[in-house]
Amino acid sequence: MVSLVSASSSKGTWWKEGTAYQIYPASFKDSNGDGLGDIAGILSKVDYLKDLGVDIVWVSPMFESPQIDMGYDISNYEAVHAPYGTLEAMQALIDACHARGMKIILDLVINHTSAEHAWFKESRSSRDNPKRDWYIWKPPRHAEDGTRLPPTNWRSYFSGSTWEWDEHTQEYYLHLFAKEMPDLNWENKETRQAIYDSAMRFWLEKGVDGFRIDCVNMYSKRAGFLDAPIVDAAVFEQPAWSEYANGPRMHEFLREMNREVLDKYDTVTVGELPHTPDPQHVLRYVGSGDKQMSMVFQFDIVDIGQGASGKYRFQDWKLPQFKATVTKWQQFIEGTDGWTTSFCENHDQGRSVSRFASDAPEHREHSAKMLALMLTTLTGTLFIYQGQEIGMINVPKEWTIDQDYQDIESVNFFHNAIKVARQTMAGDQQAIQDEIDYIRRSIQILGRDNARTPMQWDDSNKSAGFTDRPEGGWMRTHDLYPEINVAKQQGDANSVLSFWKSMIRLRRSHKDLFVYGNFRIYEPGNEDTFVYAKTTVPAGEAAVGAGQAAVVVLNFTGKDQTVNLPSADEVGALRLQVGSYTDSAAAEDVDLAAGPGQQRTLRPWEGRLYMSL
Ligand code: NOJ
Repeated sequence: MVSLVSASSSKGTWWKEGTAYQIYPASFKDSNGDGLGDIAGILSKVDYLKDLGVDIVWVSPMFESPQIDMGYDISNYEAVHAPYGTLEAMQALIDACHARGMKIILDLVINHTSAEHAWFKESRSSRDNPKRDWYIWKPPRHAEDGTRLPPTNWRSYFSGSTWEWDEHTQEYYLHLFAKEMPDLNWENKETRQAIYDSAMRFWLEKGVDGFRIDCVNMYSKRAGFLDAPIVDAAVFEQPAWSEYANGPRMHEFLREMNREVLDKYDTVTVGELPHTPDPQHVLRYVGSGDKQMSMVFQFDIVDIGQGASGKYRFQDWKLPQFKATVTKWQQFIEGTDGWTTSFCENHDQGRSVSRFASDAPEHREHSAKMLALMLTTLTGTLFIYQGQEIGMINVPKEWTIDQDYQDIESVNFFHNAIKVARQTMAGDQQAIQDEIDYIRRSIQILGRDNARTPMQWDDSNKSAGFTDRPEGGWMRTHDLYPEINVAKQQGDANSVLSFWKSMIRLRRSHKDLFVYGNFRIYEPGNEDTFVYAKTTVPAGEAAVGAGQAAVVVLNFTGKDQTVNLPSADEVGALRLQVGSYTDSAAAEDVDLAAGPGQQRTLRPWEGRLYMSL
């Protein structure tokens, strides 16, 4: 049902042109000295966001929660986690955003609730409770020797089985994440209505402008609940997304959600969409003709480097893979009514400077600016994650998983991997140690805690100004806060923060090219540099008129690299508009009218933007 019209036919839409900024409440700003970020802290920084150029503020879960998974385990959709604040504080934040012309969206976590949610407490109280069917309960299987087995071999995202045995009612319940996060049963219409009321209408009536939708393709599980194919014979639990992602009723559920709830408001929705590599499939979710979601975070970009059999089994990658990923998710909407996103960080990922570029002291600022140049010139809605705008990097290698890491996913993965290594490596101590070192290194690169360290506001205290609590914040502050912090960068016209600000403004003043433009890649196989053009004309047509093309050249190495600029026949005459090295801002006309493309040499991790004259 994707109509073949230009993606830019609905230009002017606020959620396409707006720059979004994700806030992770625990780590953004503590206002009351308890070591945990809070809503009043966010409120105190609303003007900072406005000044950065943010149009849409996305607040990650701040709902009542036992915090097994940092708030993605919600025990009451209609209440605020008390240490974060109150409903009144949230109303004040909604109003403060609106007063400054910004929108605000919340996380919609409705694949599961917390086991502490009143709905689940009822559901587990007896087999004949009216809410029993609001969650997914199944009887056990039994092995030939009578041993009780879970209903399927599915592996949970946080290691171990997706099934937890309930002694009281003698059945298993399903949890794709932690056992404290039971999956809701979307097959039950009454459950869906309760979700719409409690998690959605409640907040839309308070004025929120939409949602980032958690696990958006997991609500419809495949009927039958079959075992997943075995990819790792050493263990019982297997990756099982083929059985629960993009299930048979998924599109129907999203259409219903729009019809019954979202269509009644002016909202944006951005769905978290893992396990969906086929562009045609993604278009079914984001084609505006079918009204399912405004856009999605497709996972190819953040999956780069992750292991096929386990997230924290790092696999080295080369630049062509990265470029092909960007190209694919830029071009898939061209000529359609779908929409895309430009992002590479969030609270579930390592920091982009460390993952995709270099966090070495001599390179990290250039790397951050080069990636900012890329993200701000890509088509789609731009999402920035807190700290990205100052070039925050992964935690130091010296931090230990047992003492300094907090995240349930990576800590469980680490301990589970050690357990499996000990069971399967038959006492080979060297092999076991190598495996442990490998997983530790993988978590250092990819771990979620990298993105969850406290925001580095200044160097006024050892907590980087995040909290006044003498013993520091709930999570350790990055050791490099004296060098990487907001206050330092605010006073520096050449800082990463200043670069982001100017790029966001440039993006806004050339929406046709950057927000809506078509994407062309050059030399896709080059392993060192990324060269692309954004144009206002379709692929294959010459973009030789003034304002019709922008050319972006990025050096993804720590050495000088020579790039070939596209020929004048294709993009006309160009002028250097932005250089990520301070001195490359000097005017450098590139008159290509005369003939074939010219070459330019980029310094380590340098990025440049040329615009057509
Ligand atoms: C995706 C969220 O981004 C992640 O942080 C969370 O652990 C899972 N969904 C479960 O809600």
